[in-house]
Amino acid sequence: MDPEALIALADRVLAPTYRRPPIVFTHGEGIYVYDTAGRRYLDFVAGIAVCALGHADPRVARVIAEQARRLVHLSNLYHTEPHLRLAEALVAHSFADRVFFCNSGTEAVEAALKFARKFTRTHFNDHKIGFVAFTHSFHGRTMGALSVTEKSAYREPFAPLVPGVTFVPFNDIEAARAAITAETCAVIVEPIQGEGGVYIASPEFLQALRERCDAVGALLIFDEVQCGLGRTGRLWAYEAYGVEPDLLTVAKPLANGLPIGAVLMKEKVAAVLRPGDHGSTFAGGPLVSAVALHVFERLRDPAFLARVREAGAYLMERLHAAELPGVQEIRGRGLLVGIEIEGDARAVVMAALERGLLLATAGDHVVRMVPPLIVEKSHIDEAVAILREAMAT
Ligand SMILES: Cc1ncc(COP(=O)(O)O)c(C=O)c1O
Repeated sequence: MDPEALIALADRVLAPTYRRPPIVFTHGEGIYVYDTAGRRYLDFVAGIAVCALGHADPRVARVIAEQARRLVHLSNLYHTEPHLRLAEALVAHSFADRVFFCNSGTEAVEAALKFARKFTRTHFNDHKIGFVAFTHSFHGRTMGALSVTEKSAYREPFAPLVPGVTFVPFNDIEAARAAITAETCAVIVEPIQGEGGVYIASPEFLQALRERCDAVGALLIFDEVQCGLGRTGRLWAYEAYGVEPDLLTVAKPLANGLPIGAVLMKEKVAAVLRPGDHGSTFAGGPLVSAVALHVFERLRDPAFLARVREAGAYLMERLHAAELPGVQEIRGRGLLVGIEIEGDARAVVMAALERGLLLATAGDHVVRMVPPLIVEKSHIDEAVAILREAMAT
């Protein structure tokens, strides 16, 4: 396989919406991925916080193969068992009573916003349509999800977006209280912001959002697409806050790389929904649901979560001990870590890539580490050593 020919092909046939490095990857195993030249890379991106169980996990592969031989897709016109068992498990191990399946994080956000609109239209009036979201938020790229995403570079080319969205400084309790009014339909917040720079909500902030939403009859949506499902060392990020949402969006790691999203909701939200209100051809198909059930059962294992907490603490300790040059702050929880630097985060990512370590950015000045949740201390030592070298250049 000639990587140069493939990269030239990409330049010719793909819509130019991504800036990819000139490398073609062929396969992975555990924490590592390999390129066409057989070069090995330590993967601290995990498909952007997706491959929680690492690459080419044999048990995941077995579930895929077994279900693929039985039934891959039938559509939501019919019942099949895997998505029912998956919904049963998600409900049994969360605040939620019911689940809606979709195919990505963006779709989960889109559905949650629509469900909130239906709720307030049913119980209040046609004017309670506002959404409150926060600075540094990222909720996705479709028109609805983009409307509650703050970054202007993502928004401006596609304006006008959904009207009625107010952005409030993240963690600013007074500003949030003032912005959440009788006209607010829903508040959407990431308990730990991922793409926007790895910012952690304070407990008082999420508690204040819950109180204010209850006071004005607005719904509280937690977007746990990035921080949920074990990434913080707890199954749900909200568990650390003692605050429950009305709706929660989840996606990335749920099927370890197969596309799936879900909206978890309280009964009062589900009670306003009717057949035909929302839907999807592919969502919750037997293949992806069987895989997701397998992944979910492994991610929610308390021993697995304890190891994530331990690995996260070790990563944080090693990053601090490394005395990396030009670091402003190191933030994170569990294995969602952001290193804010003075310089350009993308330059560090490229320098690390050259040295065999995959990293992501989270804004212009934050280097993000979201490794597979099965990462071990030796991998963390290796990654921090490479990062140190990359930052010294
Ligand atoms: C918090 C959050 N919400 C939504 C999304 C969008 O998810 P997707 O890319 O699967 O559509 C992301 C993606 O990074 C995310 O981090």
